[in-house]
Amino acid sequence: MAPASSNAPVLAGVAGHPVRHSLSPVIHTIWAKRAGINGYYIPIDVPPSYDEFARAMDSLRVVGFAGVNVTLPHKEHALRYADKKSENAQAAGAANMLTFSDAGASAENSDITGFAEAVREQRSEPGISALVLGAGGAARGVVLALKALGFTDIRIANRTMERAVELAEAFDLAVIEWGKRSQVLENTDLLVNTTSLGMSGQPSLEMEIGALKPSALIADIVYAPLKTDLLRRAEENSHQTVDGLAMLMHQAVPGFRQWFGEEASVDDELRGELVKELNRRGKT
Ligand code: ATR
Repeated sequence: MAPASSNAPVLAGVAGHPVRHSLSPVIHTIWAKRAGINGYYIPIDVPPSYDEFARAMDSLRVVGFAGVNVTLPHKEHALRYADKKSENAQAAGAANMLTFSDAGASAENSDITGFAEAVREQRSEPGISALVLGAGGAARGVVLALKALGFTDIRIANRTMERAVELAEAFDLAVIEWGKRSQVLENTDLLVNTTSLGMSGQPSLEMEIGALKPSALIADIVYAPLKTDLLRRAEENSHQTVDGLAMLMHQAVPGFRQWFGEEASVDDELRGELVKELNRRGKT
């Protein structure tokens, strides 16, 4: 299945729809260049249905791709397509990585480890009490990361109560009414926004953070704009923050290791390049 020639370039990419604004090709291309690897990482636009996704993945395997990252709307399709599924991917019900080999396709979820790493980078012992805003796929991954980080008191607030209850029942969490999200912050060590609020083109997140203790960490998975209104206010109040770019860079590390065979580092130089790219696109 792999290319016959041993010096053929390594092929990988990111499959999504739309995919043209993905920063993953920029990240992997920088890392491949740094490591002197003969390889390509390309954006692959795959129409939204499972059948189209499966057809695209079959084709990539035929032409010798080592693997792909998978983004919206295909993360659940990736799990369904895989022959082998990691524990994290199974728990999240979604995968953002597929690795191809003669033995089949294996699914992994590095969104979970990526978020955990991004938090750990700020704080080795991030705390026990967290408030998660949102109850979609991203919130699910964040909750699994928080559990891995040792959080034992995790609360969910979501506009649609039923979705919050569903997530809370699946992972043994507490539910907070969406309207009360600013009133339950006193003992919170970490506040995470996983909703689309604050993203360019979306309404802003209305959240009063004055009741948070000074040591509380504030995270936002949105990266366009990079400094959301929530993160700007967090910095004004001297809180440490984790932005969407930190999570994005860290989730990319396992794929690079797996497909290009080298360790990759998340550092200021990489961040600088990505910020430049976002500026070029007019997104910061
Ligand atoms: P993802 O898989 O990326 O998390 P999603 O499943 O569409 O995407 O979830 C988006 C999240 O943003 C949800 O928690 C959604 O709340 P609902 O479950 O009530 O839809 C939240 N969200 C989006 N727009 C919102 C808004 N205007 N106000 C409050 N929450 C919003």
